[in-house]
Amino acid sequence: MDRIKDKVTIITGAGSGIGRATALRFGAEGAIVVVTDIRASTAAATAEEINKEGGRAISMAVDCGVESQLKDMIDNTIAQFGRIDVLYNNAIKTADMQKKSDDNFLEFDRSTFYDIVDVNVLGGVLASKCVIPYMIKQGGGVILFTSSCSSLGGDVAQFSYGASKAMVNWYVQTIATTFGKQGIRCNAILPGVIQTPSQKAWSTPEMDKEFLDLQNVPRLGLPEDIAALALFLASDESSYINGTHYRCDGGMTAGVPFVPLMRKLLLPQKAKETNE
Ligand SMILES: NC(=O)c1ccc[n+]([C@@H]2O[C@H](COP(=O)([O-])OP(=O)(O)OC[C@H]3O[C@@H](n4cnc5c(N)ncnc54)[C@H](O)[C@@H]3O)[C@@H](O)[C@H]2O)c1
Repeated sequence: MDRIKDKVTIITGAGSGIGRATALRFGAEGAIVVVTDIRASTAAATAEEINKEGGRAISMAVDCGVESQLKDMIDNTIAQFGRIDVLYNNAIKTADMQKKSDDNFLEFDRSTFYDIVDVNVLGGVLASKCVIPYMIKQGGGVILFTSSCSSLGGDVAQFSYGASKAMVNWYVQTIATTFGKQGIRCNAILPGVIQTPSQKAWSTPEMDKEFLDLQNVPRLGLPEDIAALALFLASDESSYINGTHYRCDGGMTAGVPFVPLMRKLLLPQKAKETNE
């Protein structure tokens, strides 16, 4: 407990899923949490939950695709609390807010790509631009991004999403190298399959079963798994860690790609032969 006591922490996209779970965990650990989301009501609900449990939180409606709102988020937090110890860039342009689907390469659409990059990449990069001068002045700070395992390889869908997360990985390393000497640490978390509202919206029980086969643990991920890693990366316990991409994916990317196939086909066959 109290690993980030009194640290002023801004979390974007914290009205739902990973952001919400992280806000609740940080609140329980004594942080002062600035809960932000494009949806004012869900941000307010998360902050209320923290306060009800005896924590300290306020909420702000912030669209991460609008630079002036990112600047206001940082300036208003400074005005209220005098410092910002942690900025967690977590929001994404969710599928239900996109003008068009991103799943057909042959209908690749510039405006969809830019919409996604505006929130998923620039949302975090521009918020970092605004917060870094304050962090330098106060002697340091922590910036986190939620990236994705989708940044690690080719895909057959979400043609702008994976690219946006690969860009996030680059900026994480670049912020770490550019400002590390001034006490700023910047790290990324790469979730695997995490059962959040947006994951549940596009997945089906059949898909979840297949996803489970890809994991090297007995269950799918929960938002609280990411919150636990974010807590470590935000706390002083990780003060020697900078510019990394941490996978939190149930070991999904640990094996060679054909492990699930071997499990399904080869291992039962071998077991059968041994029993004969
Ligand atoms: N759930 C997964 O399996 C998974 C896997 C890999 C990476 N991620 C990443 O985790 C992060 C959180 O995703 P989640 O699954 O918790 O989703 P979620 O839908 O539960 O939460 C996303 C939140 O972002 C908010 N949002 C949408 N557009 C916004 C904008 N323009 N400005 C500010 N807020 C905005 C939504 O209102 C919502 O509250 C994302 O960066 C996502 O890419 C999730």
